[in-house]
Amino acid sequence: MFARISGTGHFLPSQILTNAELEQRVDTSDSWIRERTGIQNRHIAGPDESVVTMATAAAKEAIQAAGIAAQDLDLIVLATTSADRAFPSAACEVQHALGITDTPAFDVAAACSGFIFALSVAEKYIVSGAAKHVLVVGSDTLSRMCRPDDRNTIVLFGDGAGAAVLSAANEPGILSTHIYSAGEFASLLGADHPSRDDSALQQEAWLYMRGREVFKVAVEKLASLVEDTLSHHQMSAAELDWLIPHQANFRIIQATAKKLGLPLEQVVMTLAETGNTSAASVPIALDWAIRDGRIQRGQTLLLEAFGGGFAWGSALIRY
Ligand code: ACO
Repeated sequence: MFARISGTGHFLPSQILTNAELEQRVDTSDSWIRERTGIQNRHIAGPDESVVTMATAAAKEAIQAAGIAAQDLDLIVLATTSADRAFPSAACEVQHALGITDTPAFDVAAACSGFIFALSVAEKYIVSGAAKHVLVVGSDTLSRMCRPDDRNTIVLFGDGAGAAVLSAANEPGILSTHIYSAGEFASLLGADHPSRDDSALQQEAWLYMRGREVFKVAVEKLASLVEDTLSHHQMSAAELDWLIPHQANFRIIQATAKKLGLPLEQVVMTLAETGNTSAASVPIALDWAIRDGRIQRGQTLLLEAFGGGFAWGSALIRY
């Protein structure tokens, strides 16, 4: 038995935060942000939007694209690190919002790499025969975790959700997934759970990041990740149709594409419009390029992500 992507979807909040608006809030400039990151806009969740509402909207699109009903799902795996509640899991709330019950649903926490980790779990359930249709979602509101006056972080993050339905198939779809974690880097990137103590909430619960160091490790790990993924299949980058990277920073994406020798025309990039949407970043980019017709059935895709943990991973896919 194989697992293939049968449908995808995404959701971005309508409220947009531009570089020009950020110039009014903190000591930064449009040119600094564009040159260092490649980001121009980010979508910001409004008061009525959350990890759950965004995930539900993306999930509905993916379920429709897969040509199934929510009742057909055997499992829901949702990647997030910014849900409003510790429990019930966001996945349980999405299950309820989809109007179904009993379907097992749980969250996966792997920060920006969450979707790849969730995909690797879903794939195993299908390949083992334990599930026929699995909903995989990445949804995050990291803009809410950034201290409003911290120019190091607020320029980077936006909110959104992306989803895919994996279905059992006779032909290979997900060719392989590869996931890694290295907890020793926790001090470089993270966000603490808000405490009941308000002073701690104000002082400690914001997202912290040592950007230059994160950048360096990300480039290094992603370079060996993409090489290892291809060599696992004795494939060359010339056989790839699309690279769908985590949308954190244009320069990180550029370095990974260069390592592969892949022209930027074959790299799906949404980051100018979305910023870094954490676990939602890869599935948003995937769905975006499927819906605009760039990604076609039968093509070979390399998905990769790197983020807090550190946690990083890839998926090689015949779409
Ligand atoms: N506007 C203007 N100046 C800024 C801003 C800003 N928004 N942010 C930082 N600066 C300043 C710094 O204070 C520093 O000033 P100094 O030289 O006086 O100390 C200067 O710009 C250069 O800072 P660096 O950190 O060296 O800039 P760099 O070129 O590394 O770019 C960035 C910073 C964009 C954060 C980059 O390091 C990066 O993208 N790192 C990866 C982090 C990341 O993507 N994290 C997301 C989660 S992990 C992931 O998804 C990969």
